[in-house]
Order: sequence, then structure tokens, then C-alpha cells
Amino acid sequence: MEKGRKLYLRTFGCQMNDADSSKIKSLLAHMHISPVKKAEEADIILLNTCSIRWKAEHKVYSELGRFKKIKKSRPGVIIGVGGCVAQQEQDEMFKRAPHLDIVFGTHNIHRIPDMIKEVDEKRDKVLQTDFFDSPEPLVYPVPEEGGIKAYVNIMRGCNNFCAYCIVPYVRGREVSRPDLEIIDEITNLSDQGVKEITLLGQNVNSYGNGPDSGASFPDLIRKVAEVNGIERIRFATSHPKDLSHDLILAFQEVDKLCGHLHLPVQSGSNRILKAMNRVYTVESYLEKIEKLRSIAPHISLTTDIIVGFPGESDEDFEMTLELMNKIRYDSAFSFKYSLRPGTAAAELDDKLPEAEKDRRLALLQDLQTELTLEKNGLQVGKIETVLVEGESKKGMGMIYGRTGGNKIVNFPGDKNLFFKTVPVKITKGFVNSLAGELQQVH
Ligand code: 5AD
Ligand code: SF4
Repeated sequence: MEKGRKLYLRTFGCQMNDADSSKIKSLLAHMHISPVKKAEEADIILLNTCSIRWKAEHKVYSELGRFKKIKKSRPGVIIGVGGCVAQQEQDEMFKRAPHLDIVFGTHNIHRIPDMIKEVDEKRDKVLQTDFFDSPEPLVYPVPEEGGIKAYVNIMRGCNNFCAYCIVPYVRGREVSRPDLEIIDEITNLSDQGVKEITLLGQNVNSYGNGPDSGASFPDLIRKVAEVNGIERIRFATSHPKDLSHDLILAFQEVDKLCGHLHLPVQSGSNRILKAMNRVYTVESYLEKIEKLRSIAPHISLTTDIIVGFPGESDEDFEMTLELMNKIRYDSAFSFKYSLRPGTAAAELDDKLPEAEKDRRLALLQDLQTELTLEKNGLQVGKIETVLVEGESKKGMGMIYGRTGGNKIVNFPGDKNLFFKTVPVKITKGFVNSLAGELQQVH
């Protein structure tokens, strides 16, 4: 095996893909393949893809087009595509991009080294998109150099089949990893200097609902909190139906659990929620938020919202705005409905024109900007605990970190404070960040 090859890896989409990409880097590091920032300098080019919306999928093909020239001038370069688009398209990808060597599915990351070896030996195309019932063999991701934050997959797949969503088709059924294995991985990360762990899953709070995991999700959080050196715990993404009383209590009991919950609501209309197969109502969602806020009044709440789901009337949309006004999220990711072939919603009539979806999205985003500004303004004067991540984009003499609520705070400071947890008084709230002043560290 040739040594010292270079890897260009581009990741699209969600945090799950980021975590998978860390694993890919770890696996390839064992083959003496190290990352570079430009595809032009790489011997192995990999794309880890996302198919949640049409746009994300489209980007993959345009990026692949860019590599044609590289393959032509250096035919020895290995080009591979993995993740959700690869899982969905399978060998169709070779037809659309004949310069591709490898297509690997969402359950096949651990096989990448063997796939590369196969291309090295046979100079032929390799496709591996099988689904496996049990989680892949353990691969410890290497934290980024000097990294204090790491993502840890605790479950994969999704059983919910929300009508608009492609994930259950491209990631397969829910499987939780054994708790002991997760704790082992987190201990290993902590030994390498990681202080903040984000537990990841497509439907993370249904962790432990199947056999073999060994712990419920709230119990897993408690176990992670016992790992020495771990200071902060986060998790994403949660389904409202799995927000249990015990999980709500964890926000009160577990000091290390950050005061932030991302709880996608998707719509404020019961009719649309039903059509989306979300299995909760606006009322039951609100009840859970009330309970949560009564236990953790300062918790930061964020959400995902889709506008223009098939059949969404003006009234339905108004109800979404109403719900946002009622809940007053700290921030929201909002999307125009995007048809995903093979999903239940693809078959529904009453699709909305693009221009109407644009109009609704703009209205919704304007409202959220107002709400975010209001929320961030309310932080002014408060002292927040900030984990410093590095130099701020704001320029010389400024550093930044995040609050427990996951808000970025820029404040004057130097590199002696990097990776430390410090008290910062908030002096101003913007849409995307806060400004602050370091308080005396005792
Ligand atoms: N169209 C638009 N948004 C979607 N999402 C998932 N599928 C679609 C789709 N087909 C959004 C949901 C989900 C987030 C990750 O992406 O809001 O919570
Ligand atoms: Fe998609 Fe719904 Fe599963 Fe989330 S819970 S991944 S939106 S099917």
C-alpha cells in the first residue's frame, strides 16, 4: 500500500454527516491518508452527501462535475460519494458521473478502507450500499486538532416516516448503540481533551426504545455526565413525541446538560401536523414546552419549520406564525417544502407554487428575526458561562465561545482563555450572536 496519500473530504448537510466524516477521517488516518483543503491537491476525493431537500442533492452533482477535470488530468485519483444521496441513487450515480470510482451507503462507512484497497487493486468501480441491522463496528472519531467539542452518534436511522422526509429511506430503521460502548467512546474523547459532547441521532430522544441499548436516553445522559473531564452535554435532534417527563427532569438534575433544546415543531396547524404524520398536536407540544419551562425557565428553545407543505392554506400558515409568537423561540431553521420522491407527501395533491412558498418563508423569517433579537436582547446584563472556542471573526483581541443555550458570544480576551469556561457579562444582543465582557475569574 502506497503511503502518504491526501484526502479531500467535503461534507454536506447535518451534524450526523459531520460525525460520519470524522469517522471517515479516523479510518483513513490509519491508512496514512491525511486531509487537505483543496480537491486539486488530493489523491482521494470523497463527498459525504445529504438528500433532505432537492437543493442539497443538486449541489452534490454540481460539485461532482467539478472533479471531472481532475480525473482527466490525474486518472489515478479515487473519487467516491457516500451518505444519503449515494444511498438513494446507488449505481445510478455511476451513470450520471462516470468518473466516480466508489459509491458507499449510509451503513457502509466502516468499509471505506476496503473499498479504497479494492479500487487500488482492481481499478474498477465499487458500490456498497447494503443496510445492516446492527450498528457498524466501532470507529472512534478523532477530534479535530485542539478540538474541545465532539459529536457522538448514539443511534442511527428513523422509524417515524414523517410524510415529507427521506431520512427513513436512506438511513434505515432506528438502532441504538449499547450504552457501554458510547461511554467508552466518550471517555476516549475526554482523554484527548474533549470537554463538550453532542449526542447525535436522527431521532435522538428515542434512544433506548429498542432492545440492547442498556439505558434509557435520560439515563444515558446521566452516565455521560459522570465521565471525568466532560463539562457540557448537548443532544440533537429530538422528536416532540419522545420528550418524556424524565428527559425534562434531566434539564433540572444534570448540571452538565446544557440549557438548550432543539425541538422541531414543523407546523402550527393540527391539520398539517396530521398530514405530516408528526403524531402530536399543537396543544400537546405546547403542554410539553410549558412543563419544560416550569422546570428550566431560562432554557433556550430552537426549532425547525417547513412552509408550503402540500395543502397548507393561508390559515394553516397563520397558525404557524401564531405558535411562533406564543412560544418565542430563540431561533428557528425554516425551509420551503421540497418534494422528495418516494415519500408519502410526494403523492399529495395541492402542491403550492414556489412563489407562495417564498412569500411565506420570508414572512416567517422576518418574524423569527424579531423574536431572536428580542430574546438576545433579554440576555443583556446577565452573566453567562461561556466555553471559549477560539479567536473571534470580529478581529484582533476578540475571542468567542458559546453559552449553555448555544449562543455565540464575542468578547475581548486572549488565547490564554482558549478552551476555558469563563463567566461573561452580556452587553449586547444581535441576531446571530451576543457581545460581552469577561468577568473576574476567581
Ligand atoms: N422539505 C423541506 N424541509 C424538510 N425537512 C426534512 N425534509 C424536508 C423536506 N422534504 C426539514 C425538517 C427537518 C429538517 C432537518 O429538515 O424541518 O426537521
Ligand atoms: Fe425525518 Fe421525521 Fe425521522 Fe426527523 S423524525 S428524520 S423529520 S422522518
